[in-house]
Amino acid sequence: MTEPQDCRYLLTAHNDSLAQTTVRPRFFVRTYGCQMNDRDSEKMTALLSRLGYDAAEGQDDADFILYNTCCVRESAEDKVFGHLSRLKRAKADKPGLMIGVCGCMTQQPDIAQKFQEKHPYVNLVFGTSNRHRLPEFLWRAIQTGKPVIDITESDELPEIEDIPVTTRDFPHKAGVNIMYGCDNFCAYCIVPYVRGRERSRPPEDILREAESLADDGVKEVMLLGQNVNSYGGGVAFPELLRQVNAISGLERIRFMTSHPKDFSDELILAIRDLPKVCKHVHLPLQSGSTRVLADMNRMYSQEDYLALAARLQAAIPGIAITTDIIVGYPGETEEDFLATLDVARQIRFAGAFTFIYSKRSGTPAAEREDTVPRKEISERFDRLTATLYPIMEEINRTKIGKVIDVMVEDSQSAKGRADDHTLVHFTACKELKPGDIVPVRINEAKTFYISGDAIAPHPSSRNFSRARECESA
Ligand code: SAH
Ligand code: SF4
Ligand code: F3S
Repeated sequence: MTEPQDCRYLLTAHNDSLAQTTVRPRFFVRTYGCQMNDRDSEKMTALLSRLGYDAAEGQDDADFILYNTCCVRESAEDKVFGHLSRLKRAKADKPGLMIGVCGCMTQQPDIAQKFQEKHPYVNLVFGTSNRHRLPEFLWRAIQTGKPVIDITESDELPEIEDIPVTTRDFPHKAGVNIMYGCDNFCAYCIVPYVRGRERSRPPEDILREAESLADDGVKEVMLLGQNVNSYGGGVAFPELLRQVNAISGLERIRFMTSHPKDFSDELILAIRDLPKVCKHVHLPLQSGSTRVLADMNRMYSQEDYLALAARLQAAIPGIAITTDIIVGYPGETEEDFLATLDVARQIRFAGAFTFIYSKRSGTPAAEREDTVPRKEISERFDRLTATLYPIMEEINRTKIGKVIDVMVEDSQSAKGRADDHTLVHFTACKELKPGDIVPVRINEAKTFYISGDAIAPHPSSRNFSRARECESA
């Protein structure tokens, strides 16, 4: 069977009735998980557009539905299976509907069997390293009428990077993958098993992509990797930041995620000195107990983390440190948990993602029998948020009365982000568009956001005239 050279073959094959009309088939991609998956979905969307598919408004009017999945916690997987079972009913009403599942969940052992046995209505199942082959898989599934299950493991750089993105989730900001996979093997984490070994893209590819995004109107890039500090594409990460900082048109640079074990002083200086690099570091703590951290294979102690945060806070006054914390890791005692609360109080995190430990089969932690009772975990979880949230609100309160530059994210709901990533709501101004930077005088602070009024910016700002109009509006 030869592959289609032209999308019309696929359109014809997709649905005979569609072939009689000029209607193009429509797709809907639902993305779960992290920014890496968001970026992959943008690439797969580009592939589908190139094939001749149009974007559907939602699942209901789609001819092809693709779920790009996450499996970092059980709840993420439950969500996918919950949505899938609803699709099974949708397919009964619309037999031509094609369903695909890809992403991290599909890279787990025995998943092919699970789909064959329990979800035979799913037409294509593919993994994280062969997503550039989506058109071929879709075509094969349509041609043969049989499910296509193709999951390969590869430690090459994904070929999907060569595909230019045609529509982005946001006009003004985009993620740029700088590396794939993870070699850290934290004892609880499934990512190294489903995303493979750590590999970095060459700096020239990253710069080319960031430049073309800037040419396309993107103002903010987020450099993505499971552990950007160990970027190994030929230059060190701080040097990569310097090179991205030199791209004209870009105004903000963010990166995610930083592993505390190898956060260098050079990186601290780069954040301090490079004007476009935002003063925000997401630095997952996971636990404040040195004993638990060792069990987790995190390779730093409580003291190391505190010392690093102190170095960051001393070098870059006002830097926002946000974090991830896991509650109820096997063997976590009350004393261990108190150490986490202690670190939270000392560092004063500007934001935190708090997670209940989720057992992931295949990881070393899954073998442990000293699990923490459910009731204790949820009680600790509540105590953790009761410690974190008032601090977050206190930090936000210190911004009242200040004028903060906000990059507009959504002009309709008038919200945006400060340089330190704080969410800012401001008085609506229909003249502003995503990516504009507007100064906002802050007059209210809550736990998860601050709000205020847009004011006229400094005369040097490119948004001067627009923001003045806004003020008088
Ligand atoms: N590479 C990043 C994390 C990616 S996963 C890093 O190491 O910082 C995002 C977050 O999910 C992790 O920081 C961790 O807090 C959480 N997580 C990962 N596995 C988990 C599990 N099994 N149970 C609960 N939370 C988990
Ligand atoms: Fe998972 Fe640890 Fe790798 Fe992060 S660094 S992806 S938590 S194994
Ligand atoms: Fe989830 Fe895969 Fe990201 S497991 S968190 S989507 S790397």
